[in-house]
Amino acid sequence: MSAPLTQDQLKALVGRAALDHVVPGSIVGVGTGSTVNCFIDALAEIKDRIAGAVSSSVASTQRLQAHGIPVLDSNTVERIPVYIDGADEIDGRGCMIKGGGAALTREKIVADLAERFICIADESKRVAVLGRFPLPVEVLPMAAAQVARRFQAAYGGEATVRAGCTTDNGNLILDVRGLQITDPFAMEAEATLWPGVVTVGIFARHRARVCLLGTASGVQTLT
Ligand code: 5RP
Repeated sequence: MSAPLTQDQLKALVGRAALDHVVPGSIVGVGTGSTVNCFIDALAEIKDRIAGAVSSSVASTQRLQAHGIPVLDSNTVERIPVYIDGADEIDGRGCMIKGGGAALTREKIVADLAERFICIADESKRVAVLGRFPLPVEVLPMAAAQVARRFQAAYGGEATVRAGCTTDNGNLILDVRGLQITDPFAMEAEATLWPGVVTVGIFARHRARVCLLGTASGVQTLT
């Protein structure tokens, strides 16, 4: 009997499986994180069959360029067929918590350019209700305390500033604990309006249309 696949092996599996969703000749939207790193490494093998990438972070840009994959300025791109990214949690509707790697703002911007969000994740990320993973929220530094108070008052969430973290955009990340996000659409819509909030790490409006989930029995495609 073979040993169960490790989390890293599951990430590599779904990173490679995502190649099947890349549209030949197109520009690919590329997320951020350790699962996406596996995708980028696999994408390098077919780099001559794509027109380039739009990237969601400095880290992913560097990895793409190291493979010789051209990275385009998002302002020069109007529409892309797919955006491929990981998640910290994903529910049965494809709504996600993202931002564990602090790249949530650029991730949402690139996701917004895409026809379809393809989520790649190992099965530990699948949840019934979002919120066990602390919700990342990118905030302008001067709004951090007020946004933290708002999460407490509105949802009973305990927000702390992520230590030692400045985003690619020069902002702070709040991690909000103790949430039960039963209505991700409503919470995303409300918290996005609070002054000083740059991006809430709930991806409900920009939820995944397909999730490639790495499981002990292989890659499951959830739609
Ligand atoms: C980065 C993200 C990542 O997609 C998320 O944190 C998952 O990362 P990993 O694939 O390393 O588990 O949202 O901001």
